[in-house]
Amino acid sequence: MHPDVEKLLFSRADIDNKVHELGSIISRDYAGQDLLMVGILKGAAVFMADLIRAISIDVSIDFMALSSYGASSKSTGVVRILKDLDKSIQNRHVLIVEDIVDTGLTLTYLLKILKARNPAGVRICTMLDKPSRRKADVPVDYNGFTIPDHFVVGYGLDYNEKYRNLPEIYVLKEEIYRSK
Ligand code: XMP
Ligand code: MG
Repeated sequence: MHPDVEKLLFSRADIDNKVHELGSIISRDYAGQDLLMVGILKGAAVFMADLIRAISIDVSIDFMALSSYGASSKSTGVVRILKDLDKSIQNRHVLIVEDIVDTGLTLTYLLKILKARNPAGVRICTMLDKPSRRKADVPVDYNGFTIPDHFVVGYGLDYNEKYRNLPEIYVLKEEIYRSK
């Protein structure tokens, strides 16, 4: 294990099983529909890469980048679009793919923006859900794992841009983010 992590939360096998479960459900739910999966950079990049390969129907993908935490582990509630979608989503079925829903502020903002562009529908798929810290009531349609209020890293999730490459999901040692 990396020296900065406290404990393993989800192993490769846990993640693989969950990704395939989600992939089957999403493939079934969107069968016969024009599905566009939108990954939120950078945290969801790893989950997105695995999830699209677990989808058995035709799918297009795109990415958005939003400003969120910066170097700190606390949400500011200030969200900005750093990279927007390439094409119009009018009349398309959009599935947002997130790494983690925490306060829900990021997705609440994003949902509002995307719904204003008149898609056929917008749903949310997240790898992790931390409901204990919710500030905005955001509808999560597909959720991998519900977790307690710990700061987690790995599988795309970072602290200060570090640990995204760890293949599993870990709880970060408190001393790492308290000392900054
Ligand atoms: P909100 O609070 O708006 O923010 O739902 C969601 C975004 O916050 C980041 N986040 C985390 N990143 N470990 C991380 O590496 C965590 O435990 C964590 N909690 C929130 C993440 O970027 C997510 O997209
Ligand atoms: Mg994120």
